[in-house]
Amino acid sequence: MEQRLLGASGIAVSPVGMGCMGITHASGAPMPPEEGVRVIRAAYDMGYTFFDTAECYTGLYPDGSVAYNETVVGEALRPVRDRVVIATKCGVQHGKDRSLLLDSRPETIRASLEGSLRRLGTDYVDLYYQHRIDPAVPPEAVADTMAGLIREGKIRAWGISEANEDYLRRAHAVCPVAAVQNRYSMMARWHEPLFPVLEELHIAWVAFSPMANGFLTGRYTPQSHFDAETDYRGAMPQYTEEGFRAASGLLALLRRLADEKHATPAQLSLAWMLCRKPYLIPIPGSRKPERLAENLGAADVQLTAGEIARIDAALDTMHFAVFGGH
Ligand SMILES: NC(=O)c1ccc[n+]([C@@H]2O[C@H](COP(=O)([O-])OP(=O)(O)OC[C@H]3O[C@@H](n4cnc5c(N)ncnc54)[C@H](OP(=O)(O)O)[C@@H]3O)[C@@H](O)[C@H]2O)c1
Repeated sequence: MEQRLLGASGIAVSPVGMGCMGITHASGAPMPPEEGVRVIRAAYDMGYTFFDTAECYTGLYPDGSVAYNETVVGEALRPVRDRVVIATKCGVQHGKDRSLLLDSRPETIRASLEGSLRRLGTDYVDLYYQHRIDPAVPPEAVADTMAGLIREGKIRAWGISEANEDYLRRAHAVCPVAAVQNRYSMMARWHEPLFPVLEELHIAWVAFSPMANGFLTGRYTPQSHFDAETDYRGAMPQYTEEGFRAASGLLALLRRLADEKHATPAQLSLAWMLCRKPYLIPIPGSRKPERLAENLGAADVQLTAGEIARIDAALDTMHFAVFGGH
């Protein structure tokens, strides 16, 4: 299988990574840990080598104990630790109302990493992200902390999630950034102006929520039910009646293109970014092995530059409501 590089770090990964968040967080009540382990191992067996987690991807198990995503990921990957790339994140905790509490002070980053290493059961993290920019901490201070962690062998490379150009340039000048992890999908294209910056600085783009939180798979309807307490999709604008109405043209386009390519809408939506740039690496998430296989299969779907340009031209004429949009 083709491999993709995390910027100039030299770290190679499968072209589609596995977003592990939904195993414990935001996609319903956490899976029983042994089932989560089974799904992640199935992903490795089918060819995934890039696994994405975070300190804050937690939930609650039925007995009231905390479901740590990193614990499940670490347990699943322990037997193949040296053959996989584990990415995790620091700097964000979830507040009661799903707000994000930001803290990227150097001492917090260091303490978070120790916790992540313990839960993952490993002595290094391959790719360590600052999960969100903390306005109270300059990028130079974060980058300098990451440089220290690289020197100490605790992380191999670092990245920033939801980075903007100015922050990225300032951070990169202190310690080269291997990857940004920004939202990107057919419905979320507002970070595209970063393309030339990533090319100039030789930084990968790990695309999170690459199917607009599953919406672009075309498998959901306005009647789909999401648990209000544990599944964030229940409150996302694309999943409302109005959201479906606004995106009906896009879903129809996806179905038609998928038919032409003997693919599924999920695969087509991922192939659209895979074929656009060699440094774009989507990390779709699923709890279901058959869907993980489907999503990885996107790497076999070829779209020409002309086909991508025609899709973009159609997208430019569409307006939809999507979570994270502004
Ligand atoms: N950096 C950040 O701030 C940030 C934010 C959000 C997410 N992320 C990362 O990005 C990863 C993916 O993002 P995401 O989960 O928000 O969005 P996504 O990958 O676009 O969508 C995932 C959702 O789609 C469903 N799904 C996946 N494949 C499917 C298929 N082939 N057919 C039908 N449904 C399918 C999954 O449900 P089932 O499990 O039921 O299949 C899941 O609920 C996360 O796991 C996380 O690692 C990062």
